[in-house]
Amino acid sequence: MTTASTATDGLDLTALHPSVGDPLLSSMNFLNEIAGRHPDALSLAAGTPYEGFYDVEDVHRALRVFSDHLRTEQGYGEERVRRTLLQYGRTKGIIHELIARQLSVDEGIDVDPEAVLVTTGCQEALFLTLRLLRRDDRDVLLAVTPAYVGVTGAARLLDLPVHPVAEGPDGVDLDDLRRRIGEARAAGLRPRALYVVPDHANPSGIRMPEPVRHDLLGLAEQEDILLLEDNPYGLFPRRGHRLPTLKALDTARRVVHLGSLAKTVFPGVRIGYAVADQPVGSGPYLADLLARAKSMVTVNTSPIAQAVAGGRLLEHGCSLVRATERESEVYREGLDRIVDGLARRFPDPSASGVSWNSPEGGFFVVVDVPFDVTDAVLERSARDHRVLWTPLHHFYDAAAPESGAGAGPLRCLRLSCSALGPEDIEEALDRFAAFVRSA
Ligand SMILES: Cc1ncc(COP(=O)(O)O)c(C=O)c1O
Repeated sequence: MTTASTATDGLDLTALHPSVGDPLLSSMNFLNEIAGRHPDALSLAAGTPYEGFYDVEDVHRALRVFSDHLRTEQGYGEERVRRTLLQYGRTKGIIHELIARQLSVDEGIDVDPEAVLVTTGCQEALFLTLRLLRRDDRDVLLAVTPAYVGVTGAARLLDLPVHPVAEGPDGVDLDDLRRRIGEARAAGLRPRALYVVPDHANPSGIRMPEPVRHDLLGLAEQEDILLLEDNPYGLFPRRGHRLPTLKALDTARRVVHLGSLAKTVFPGVRIGYAVADQPVGSGPYLADLLARAKSMVTVNTSPIAQAVAGGRLLEHGCSLVRATERESEVYREGLDRIVDGLARRFPDPSASGVSWNSPEGGFFVVVDVPFDVTDAVLERSARDHRVLWTPLHHFYDAAAPESGAGAGPLRCLRLSCSALGPEDIEEALDRFAAFVRSA
């Protein structure tokens, strides 16, 4: 039969969208596979949140809190509560008002809840935004590089070229940004937006100083581009106070703010959002057009998941700062432990050739080492030293040699403090130091 022979022959990969054959899209799985092959390896690679406080009972409680909120605060009857939680629902989401309140309480972002689109993780918000920004072959995305692989991968799926912009010590090199915009325009292209993580970026850990945030907003207005601000780590400063997000400073509606509850509630809830208050078309907001696209992708975000996230918000007066006090402490201690632990194990960086940055928050530290950091070296580290970390080349787009990936293997890697408890971090650092010495 024809169908059987087709199945036996297999499908022709080259007949499918080219992105699925691109190593970039295998990047996250590659790291998971290495972890799977070496279950006894301690992971300084995973950027997954700390699990020590997770409890399934919290999910049940949050669901009850949200259902009670619908009954008592919103005045819903039982039938409407059931329908809200169990039926198809509003494409823009059902916890948009709670998220808007959280943004106001924690971030000083005051936005019309109608400009908030609740999505299936931040990744969907990112994907939909890029979808709308790519009108035709002339459109390009700028991304501060090294960049979170999720943005480069999503752009690849959408045939949207990504032009790297240097990060520099301040989170974005504004001269390079101006230059890249000029070059793209001179080539007849339309740079639409800059993707940036101003707070404790993934992978660099860098935080953008406040004056640079103002300058970046000014430049975005002068050059007529949008800023896609991704903010999963902003609530986890290592010490001192948090800085205002770009969105909190955005008086000209240049910023589409992308949020994730993966690190503040838990990743399994798969809730993220976009704040897109730009007026456009019959609108009123860009969020409405994103919702139109979403209705053809995921239809609406799971209301059960939204209810769990909503319940968690309600339990803490809509403050994720309050909801994550214990987690913040763990991450603060974890970062200290990594930075101080490296200093104890490599007391003389000029002699060892091993140096690292000291981020002001988030999960990540970047380490420079005196050898090429390839995936094969990681495999050896996992096999012989039972410790995992992330080669930094995964955050550069090999298809864009000017991103820094074309000049030969990189000599840096990322360590994450988030997944392990204190004793395991110390043990992992011992193993990491032994691996570096052997390499
Ligand atoms: C910078 C950045 N953005 C977005 C995400 C993913 O967010 P979500 O799990 O909500 O899709 C991550 C996860 O690691 C991240 O590091």
